[in-house]
Amino acid sequence: MNFELKTLSLATAATTKTDTLIVLISNQFKPGKDSLSALIAKAIGAKDLSTKAGQSLQAYALPGVSASKVLFLGIGDGQPSDVKAAMGSATATLKAAKVAKTVVVFAEPVQPQSLKAAMLALADGTYVYSATKSKPVPRVLAQVQLAVAQPTAELKAAFAACTAMIHGIEFAKEWANRPANHATPTHLGKAAQALAKSAGMSCEVLGPKEVAKLGMGSFMSVAQGSSEPLRFIVLKYQGASKADAPIVLVGKGITFDTGGISIKPAPEMDEMKFDMGGAASVLGVFKSLSVLQPAVNVMGLIPACENMPDGLAVKPGDVVTSMSGQTIEILNTDAEGRLILCDALTYAERFKPRAVIDIATLTGACVIALGAIRSGMFASDDALANGLHLAGQDAMDLCWRMPLDEDYADALKSNFADVANVGGRAGGAITAAKFLQRFTQKYPWAHLDIAGTAWKGGAAKGATGRPVALLLQYLISQAAPTKAKARSKASAK
Ligand code: BES
Ligand code: MN
Ligand code: ZN
Repeated sequence: MNFELKTLSLATAATTKTDTLIVLISNQFKPGKDSLSALIAKAIGAKDLSTKAGQSLQAYALPGVSASKVLFLGIGDGQPSDVKAAMGSATATLKAAKVAKTVVVFAEPVQPQSLKAAMLALADGTYVYSATKSKPVPRVLAQVQLAVAQPTAELKAAFAACTAMIHGIEFAKEWANRPANHATPTHLGKAAQALAKSAGMSCEVLGPKEVAKLGMGSFMSVAQGSSEPLRFIVLKYQGASKADAPIVLVGKGITFDTGGISIKPAPEMDEMKFDMGGAASVLGVFKSLSVLQPAVNVMGLIPACENMPDGLAVKPGDVVTSMSGQTIEILNTDAEGRLILCDALTYAERFKPRAVIDIATLTGACVIALGAIRSGMFASDDALANGLHLAGQDAMDLCWRMPLDEDYADALKSNFADVANVGGRAGGAITAAKFLQRFTQKYPWAHLDIAGTAWKGGAAKGATGRPVALLLQYLISQAAPTKAKARSKASAK
């Protein structure tokens, strides 16, 4: 889908050719002298149109309007959440009418956040998965022009960031949605290598031999039950000076999680193809970086493998040695995410990072704690935690900080190794984070548990692309100010 930012008033929007013109009207609407304004005022007066978020009125062949169809859409106060809800309901109309081109015009001055909300909702509501359909039906909506009366520098920056964000979200959805036999560790490695052809990017994909040489005994123990060879993907994006320490993103890449010997029950096991949602979000962020090219250095690490039961699979009680040298008693082979992440977290040390953020569909306990609304966020560093929290709010991709008290680590004591890979059921999302924290002593670290937010189950089963928006927003907040930004700041003084 192609987005464009246009300078149009209500008057000039009326004469723009498109399939459907969408007019967003807040309850602060003050009619101008143009014909659309007059119509809106009349419809509101007659109570045929309400400015409540999501309320709409459709019209056909209006005199003085070039678009054949017009959708008047209430956006309440014009807050991002209202705009998001309204555009979400409008996408249903667009889809039903098979609209290919639309102009979305804001009847009043719009805040950057609300512009972003409109774009994100349109993209989310019209995304279609087609990779494994025999007769793919592509998304119909191909072109969206967002029209504002005055495209300020802030609006332009928000538009550029959001366009890149949407590319990343859709890339993440695409890979997370693919079934495990179409998204093997090898496939993920190839996708990363293809991405790395973009400016400022490079990629290295390690296989079983290299990983063994690095001493990633914990990662290898998860992969050993599968005939699919593991991959360790190292993506690099250099947008700032070489001397700038990078932010490292680590994505859990379990391309299918059966649970291993501690096998999962059959119902809904298919959803464990989404267990590489963390990896997909890292690929998505790199897609966004390739489009936006912000002034920040980022590394992406993806340990990728399947978790399968097999004659050679790791067994409950086995003790393995991680790359850090710490030994781990694997009491439950279904707690495999932390076993692959811990070696990637140790590998991250070599970049002397500013911060390391891991992203993982790690625990069912996090789904119980926070549901599908907020991702769980754990951090050893307050500035990093606050930065992620704010980025989540800005990008409408929420998270919530969870505790890391040392007392929680007691549950991981082992009689036979330095640490066990599971505690009890109590506080399961936190004990998982405490396990990871043992491998992150050399840098500020945060962990996002996206088990509840990375995909939806039921009839709308599919990946959400979260938390690409949060991560990209955070990276943008950490980027050196660009020349354009520096200029606008100087002129504001
Ligand atoms: N991939 C799962 C976590 C998961 C479960 C995500 C359900 C989304 C929905 C993870 O590998 C796992 O199996 N975790 C176990 C840990 C337990 C054995 C300590 C869990 O949460 O049950
Ligand atoms: Mn598991
Ligand atoms: Zn898993």
